Amino acid sequence: MTTHLLLGQTLAFTGDPFSRPWEDCVEHHESGGVLVRDGRIEAVGDGNALQAANPGVPVANYGRDLILPGFVDAHMHYPQTGIIASWGKRLIDWLNTYTFPEEMRFRDPAYAAEVAGRTLDLALAHGTTTLCSFCTIHPESVDAFFEAAQAREMRVVAGKTCMDRDTAPEGLRDTARAAHDESAALIARWHGRGRATYAITPRFSPTSTPAQLEALGALWAGNPTCLMQTHLSEQVDEVAWVRGLYPEARDYLDTYESHGLLGARGLYGHSIHLEPREIDRLREVGAAVVHCPTSNTFIGSGLFDLAGLKGRGIPVGLATDTGGGSFFSMLRTMAAAYEVAQLRGQAIHPAQLLWLATEASARALHLDGTIGSLRPGADADLVVLDLASTPAVAQRAKRAEDLWQAVFPTIMMGDDRAIRATWVAGRPMARPA
Ligand code: GUN
Ligand code: ZN
Repeated sequence: MTTHLLLGQTLAFTGDPFSRPWEDCVEHHESGGVLVRDGRIEAVGDGNALQAANPGVPVANYGRDLILPGFVDAHMHYPQTGIIASWGKRLIDWLNTYTFPEEMRFRDPAYAAEVAGRTLDLALAHGTTTLCSFCTIHPESVDAFFEAAQAREMRVVAGKTCMDRDTAPEGLRDTARAAHDESAALIARWHGRGRATYAITPRFSPTSTPAQLEALGALWAGNPTCLMQTHLSEQVDEVAWVRGLYPEARDYLDTYESHGLLGARGLYGHSIHLEPREIDRLREVGAAVVHCPTSNTFIGSGLFDLAGLKGRGIPVGLATDTGGGSFFSMLRTMAAAYEVAQLRGQAIHPAQLLWLATEASARALHLDGTIGSLRPGADADLVVLDLASTPAVAQRAKRAEDLWQAVFPTIMMGDDRAIRATWVAGRPMARPA
């Protein structure tokens, strides 16, 4: 049995701070503790009391640092790590110029393994303990990602990206049949194995034929515990393109819905330019949308309506969308979510931002209770934040009169230097305590 006691400030959520006053949804201990045993959280509470009740248990004392659930990045593309921050394009040109040539390289399993490991190590260094990633059309790219996660004991979600239309380049296309069969084989190999979850992954309607969407819809129906991830209404040009490619569809979401690809375990990345019918249908089925704010500003996609969609009861996850997004950091992603909301006249409280980056993303992935929270029984995937990580942050945090004033400078100005430690399955990873 491996047991540790982490001491520091702790912040746990007891509810959704968008649906109730945030004050009613948080439990903060200034001198708190998290007891972890065999990879799980056993107890959270007053640090001194936990220490007295558990004599002899090794202690990692983080002082005034803030212990949170590890960040959950609900939508990213690990094969795009190497082309993050590529200049000057909008979505379709950006895909053709930077993304597709890079993704072709993943037919080489050694390259895939190297980038998968690098991505996961970067994630851990930024306090992210779970990623939900697109891979490439190559099944080897999926094996590489799950194997790299397994080596680090990380809980991840991923799937083979499927594309069979001639809108995707030669060399980066499969077929409806191959997409189905290769995804089915990967589900059999990985879904539910250790900490792995499989997501059936049509890239987006413009790069799939109706036959491929149909085949993947059938695969999902036969594997209902899998997630399904894709993109929806990211840019205005893309929405018009979809209308041209699928003239019979009522709207963009209908291209998925009419092929069996709308469901509660569906994850719809971006979802910026939605029609009222699409919003109604997402809500009716309980599907999640994923907010990718650094990507949406970087590629020039638009301003996601966070308060509007949360207000309609739609589950929202938060994500980097690496490499459309230009940061590996969920701190920077929270900051961008705040900034985008400001531009829409919505002030998002730090409690809401932290909840989005942890439990809300876990809920979107149907992994709530397992990750994204400090509840006893949850996996001991944790991040410890230094709230004075740089002189600029420290001089502001020093004047803080409460936790929120202390943590907001780190959300707005922090980066990987704010990550004092990352714990995965009850073990310290990034910087051992
Ligand atoms: N839409 C389809 N593919 C992609 C992708 O790789 N990144 C982003 N941001 N949008 C997409
Ligand atoms: Zn994406």
